[in-house]
Amino acid sequence: MTATFKVEDSRPRLSGQAGAPVLHYDVERIRRDFPILSRSARGKPLIYLDNAATTQKPKAVIDRIVRYYTEENSNVHRGVHFLSEVATKAYEDVRTVVKQFVNARSEKEIIFTRGTTESINLVMQSWGRKNVGAGDEIIISAIEHHSNIVPWQLLCEEKGARLRVIPVNDSGELIIDEYERMLNPRVKIVSVGHASNALGTINPVATMAKMAHAHGALILIDGAQGVPHLHVDVQALDVDFYAFSAHKVYGPTGVGVLYGREALLESMPPWQGGGDMILSVSFEKTTYNALPYKFEAGTPNIEGVVGFGAALQYVAGLGIENIAAHEQDLLAYATARLREIKGLRFIGTAKEKASVISFVLEGVHPHDIGTILDQQGIAIRTGHHCAQPLMMRFNVPATGRASFGLYNTRHEADRLVAGLHKVVEVFG
Ligand SMILES: Cc1ncc(COP(=O)(O)O)c(C=O)c1O
Repeated sequence: MTATFKVEDSRPRLSGQAGAPVLHYDVERIRRDFPILSRSARGKPLIYLDNAATTQKPKAVIDRIVRYYTEENSNVHRGVHFLSEVATKAYEDVRTVVKQFVNARSEKEIIFTRGTTESINLVMQSWGRKNVGAGDEIIISAIEHHSNIVPWQLLCEEKGARLRVIPVNDSGELIIDEYERMLNPRVKIVSVGHASNALGTINPVATMAKMAHAHGALILIDGAQGVPHLHVDVQALDVDFYAFSAHKVYGPTGVGVLYGREALLESMPPWQGGGDMILSVSFEKTTYNALPYKFEAGTPNIEGVVGFGAALQYVAGLGIENIAAHEQDLLAYATARLREIKGLRFIGTAKEKASVISFVLEGVHPHDIGTILDQQGIAIRTGHHCAQPLMMRFNVPATGRASFGLYNTRHEADRLVAGLHKVVEVFG
């Protein structure tokens, strides 16, 4: 096992990420990059509006994974043989791609994980166990996904710390004045989502980071719904940690990233022990590897990382600003059209929203909405969206949620509206 790894100068460059020229967004051409979109569901053309749960994969990602197994498969960071070098380079090149994608300062700040959930748990277990004690406070918000609630509850339980929750107004926006009042020297970390998977609300994370830092607290951003929809620059946002998942941004499942400030990561102990995260092991003493390997114990998800790189290249090629503009158009169009539906009420009407629309229909359980839409080939999500406290806040057991991605169209929004008219007809 080698401790250090040098990325050669042939490392990939991302094009089109920040400030990409606005291109003519040819959604029909883009759709052809996603083989699954041409299949049918229940005998009807598939309309996939469950992108907040997971996104579909472009052929570039699928082909990259096939090429990896056809030509490059080997374990990474171990061995001098040819294939091991090829696989290691492919894996480490993606670290550079991710670094550029989120504008981190160094590859050392990019830790590969299984996804957002594991990234947050890494911070909780490594940084949290070392730095949080009895009487300390951790701040999250009322609109968090369970994966940004439960790890902090576990830590608070273990340490005797207190979990505090930023409240949300009726539109689904965090009440920033309340947040300001909650900050005090006992707060060790603030952990909030960049965008809500259940409501779409985009949080003012740069402002929230400034406020946290002014009170001596760190800030972690759950970026699972940020990276797919927003230009993310971790230096401009000035956040300490940023977690996200590949599968929500057109990459494979089972892989994600924890970005962390280098000095912070340096100060944190490893959280899992095993191969690759060590420099030397003896029964008397083990010394740990340098960043980022210190946090990557065991054989990683190499195929996933390699596919993830292809996904980020794909997104960067389209330009995240162009994707965002397309999605905002769909959001506005679909929101306006959905107002036609009798008895439909939006849950989450924040001014700043990602392309997620949550709603309830008077007299119809969301699962019934989902089932009737499914019969028409339309995939939306129904349920609590792993945000049960948020559902309680809005006094609903569940919602229907249509979430739009870079390949969705106005025509698909029209089909959703027609499908919902049918739901009303059946239950009317
Ligand atoms: C806002 C948010 N945070 C965290 C997660 C968890 O992501 P993963 O299951 O990929 O770890 C999700 C997934 O739905 C999410 O939407």
